[in-house]
Amino acid sequence: MPRPLQFHAFTMNCVSFINHGLWRHPEGRHVDYTDLGGWVDLARLVERAGFDTLFFADTVGVYEGYQGGRETTVREAVQIPNGDPSVLIPALAHATEDLGFAFTSSVQQAHPFEFARRVSTLDHLTGGRVAWNIVTSFQPSAARNFNSDTAIALQDRYAWAEEYMEVVYKLWEGSWEDGAVLRDAERGIYTDPARVHSIDHRGERYKVAGPHLAEPSPQRTPVLFQAGSSEAGRTFAGRHAEGTFIIVPDPSSAEVAVSKVRERAVAAGRAAGDVTFVQGLSLVVGSTEEEAHRLNAEFEEYLSDDAFLAHVSGNVGKDFSVIDPATPLTEVIKNDVNMEGVFRAMIEGAPPGARTWGDMAKLLVSTRVVGTPDQIADQLERWAAAGVGGFNVTVVITPGTFEDFAEHLTPVLRARGLMRDRYAPGTLREKLSGAGARLPERHPAARFRKL
Ligand SMILES: Cc1cc2nc3c(=O)[nH]c(=O)nc-3n(C[C@H](O)[C@H](O)[C@H](O)COP(=O)(O)O)c2cc1C
Repeated sequence: MPRPLQFHAFTMNCVSFINHGLWRHPEGRHVDYTDLGGWVDLARLVERAGFDTLFFADTVGVYEGYQGGRETTVREAVQIPNGDPSVLIPALAHATEDLGFAFTSSVQQAHPFEFARRVSTLDHLTGGRVAWNIVTSFQPSAARNFNSDTAIALQDRYAWAEEYMEVVYKLWEGSWEDGAVLRDAERGIYTDPARVHSIDHRGERYKVAGPHLAEPSPQRTPVLFQAGSSEAGRTFAGRHAEGTFIIVPDPSSAEVAVSKVRERAVAAGRAAGDVTFVQGLSLVVGSTEEEAHRLNAEFEEYLSDDAFLAHVSGNVGKDFSVIDPATPLTEVIKNDVNMEGVFRAMIEGAPPGARTWGDMAKLLVSTRVVGTPDQIADQLERWAAAGVGGFNVTVVITPGTFEDFAEHLTPVLRARGLMRDRYAPGTLREKLSGAGARLPERHPAARFRKL
């Protein structure tokens, strides 16, 4: 039997996350994203379905560049409007018992002292069920929101992230010793002051004296996820991440990503198995093959080429409107001898099944698997054989995607041993890894434990 895999319900506090256009589907509740009751219902649903976490992506900039601007992005609600995901978590934790809550936060968006305190507060309030998806924000529009005139260069983003990690590790792991909190009402000592330390961090970007203001939370450092795909991003994942996200078109591409990050984990003094690889997939399941394909065809009618192209333009930093979405990829290559290198490279590596420019944009943003529960489980096993240890099940229709998952997939995945039968006790880290509540000694955070 394969080891149980991780399953994350992948969504965002916004109208249109990945499967753009589907917010118009009559069965979807996408437009109700400002309603807390809807989120509470969703958290309960995904817990019933056995997911490990409700996973929130986030962005702090706007996708721009398509047709030279951001009009399509705004018109089609491509991740704008959106709301802060971390604010939802206490209410959702209160309505659930075991579900984890992962949220994305960019090193550019919050000062590490403020961020560390917010995360410790969340870790306390959730009983240790919080994970942080560390991103560095590649979008120039995000950088312009946080004191910069231009995009931050790749190497600088990851150098920034390294310092950011050092500050938060010092606060979470080093500032308060175990046993500092005595809660001794008789002697009037809540905390032993000798066991609470300043961190006195003085780096290139931050000066943080400390001490951390929150007392140690169940996990101290939250479970760490990361999603960088450049070489610098992979090196960062190898050093810090307990889970890393990939969106690759097929299992053989996954194998490449997995081996590269594992090498870097080992080079950083960690074990190859310390990092779990989580592939993003949109699943369309039906009780018969015909039903699944009928549903998929119905969804495709709502998908918006324009919105996908606006999303990819923002991701890649090139205007994808210069080519008509209906143009077959073979024609694009034939006609456009002056095609920019980045477009050519993308076409040459286009995901299987992409026939046109519009298809390619869709498939770059989301890999979709369509079929019966058994067919989908077969596919997931193929990914698992390539080293993938979990899936970000990307919302197609909210909440329908997760209702279908609970009804059709949970029983089959459990019967095959691919999904846990029940939640393990303890914090999110204990549930996911079966190890301790805190990061292991070989993780770089551990060296800040004795300040
Ligand atoms: C599956 C996946 C999910 C991602 N989620 C987010 C996100 O929620 N917010 C964000 O700003 N970036 C997100 N990214 C972008 C990455 O953080 C990263 O910036 C991007 O992959 C480019 O890699 P690089 O930073 O190594 O250049 C995601 C990337 C992938 C592959």
